[in-house]
Amino acid sequence: MEKKIYIETYGCQMNFSDSEIVASIITEKNYTSSDKAEDADIIFLNTCSIRENAEQKVFNRLKQLQHLRKNKPGLVLGVLGCMAERLKTSLLEEKEMGMRVDMVVGPDSYRDLPQLLLDVENGQKAVNVILSSEETYADITPVRYASNGVSAFISIMRGCENFCTYCVVPFTRGKERSRKPESIINEAKGLFRDGYREITLLGQNVNSYHWQDEQSGKAWSFPALMEAVALIDPALRIRFATSHPKDMSDELLQIIALHPNICMAIHLPAQSGSSNVLKKMNRKYTREDYMDRIHAIRRILPGCAISTDLIAGFCGETEEDHQQTLSLMHEVGFDFAFMFKYSERPGTLAAKKLADDVPEKVKSRRLQEIIDLQNELSLKSNQADVGKEFEVLIEGTSKKSEKRVSGRNSQNKVVVFDNNKDFKPGDYAKVKITACSSATLQGEYVEG
Ligand code: SAH
Ligand code: SF4
Ligand code: F3S
Repeated sequence: MEKKIYIETYGCQMNFSDSEIVASIITEKNYTSSDKAEDADIIFLNTCSIRENAEQKVFNRLKQLQHLRKNKPGLVLGVLGCMAERLKTSLLEEKEMGMRVDMVVGPDSYRDLPQLLLDVENGQKAVNVILSSEETYADITPVRYASNGVSAFISIMRGCENFCTYCVVPFTRGKERSRKPESIINEAKGLFRDGYREITLLGQNVNSYHWQDEQSGKAWSFPALMEAVALIDPALRIRFATSHPKDMSDELLQIIALHPNICMAIHLPAQSGSSNVLKKMNRKYTREDYMDRIHAIRRILPGCAISTDLIAGFCGETEEDHQQTLSLMHEVGFDFAFMFKYSERPGTLAAKKLADDVPEKVKSRRLQEIIDLQNELSLKSNQADVGKEFEVLIEGTSKKSEKRVSGRNSQNKVVVFDNNKDFKPGDYAKVKITACSSATLQGEYVEG
């Protein structure tokens, strides 16, 4: 009988993309996928280590899943992804962990999963946490098991060597490596043929993508790759995430300006508005450098949405540094932001060399100030869109009403409107914005 496998994914888009690769590797062998943990013979948690609470969530879930062993003594519980890589065999220590884990598989070892599953069936605990400097899973066609059929991710590079002092990713994801351009373009073409209308090119650092073709000697930069994908079809939207400010070139912005199907939304994590803090973070840019990139975006791509990531309460952050983050937010007028409290990660440079000295209460208060300000900025940004018309790619029916559809505009804002034209997911519609909240735009379909 075929065994059923259930995958639960935590963390960033790269992890969601990796889970589709895992599903592909596994279902090629004698396994079928299940959409419920309770029905599965094998449960994989694809995990994230970015902050302590991300790991805590996974530990809680692992503990909660143990009760399924009662009815299913052969149940296999595997930890995949960044926690597997960070914690390695310690996850298998039943006594210390207070629970049982059967498999530990790091992000570069997924090809080994079928063999590791056999090892577990033979009564062994299975571990592979070897990082690779080459693995990109280029030849594997992801199984889009949780997809809306409209938008899809394509991983174009893996790993990170930037070593921002707070960040665990270089340790869990290893060396930076890019995927062969032909395999990316073919995957994008295949998705378009299958009805997908939006592709997000993914990497920890997409704009440091680089490929040198051994035979022709031709070099591919990120702008060149993005242009090649954009040329597949004007009805295929292209997005990308995440870009590091130090690699955000004018050339890339010009390519975006040239192709209407490359979306007008740039996610550019600032982390802090204080050059002192940025230096301690090893971000390799100052506030002025960051603002220079913002001005370049405003100049070359008027109307482009800009979103960011911000960390509150990093080591040594003073009240003045925090005020500078707030002032940066005002100065840029971010459309959207992911905002976090600094969480010390074992093994990082910050954990080794810098004191985590901002008291928890102060971190929380600063984070709240950042969140409050961003809510204001997001509302302002949405209010400025009322009266404007946008092309919206429809993703599905609205959560609140069957009669309404929901999609996104090029700026990545969610737009909800009445489905008075029998619109289907994957259709484009011109929508005039009539109202908004800080989270969504409301509008109505206009002919044309
Ligand atoms: N590669 C991306 C970010 C990946 S991690 C980039 O460099 O922009 C996503 C976000 O998590 C980061 O941008 C940062 O804001 C946040 N983050 C990373 N490590 C963190 C930590 N130790 N504590 C709090 N937030 C963190
Ligand atoms: Fe982490 Fe910095 Fe790499 Fe982003 S660029 S993944 S924050 S080390
Ligand atoms: Fe988390 Fe790993 Fe992504 S630590 S954010 S899942 S790269």
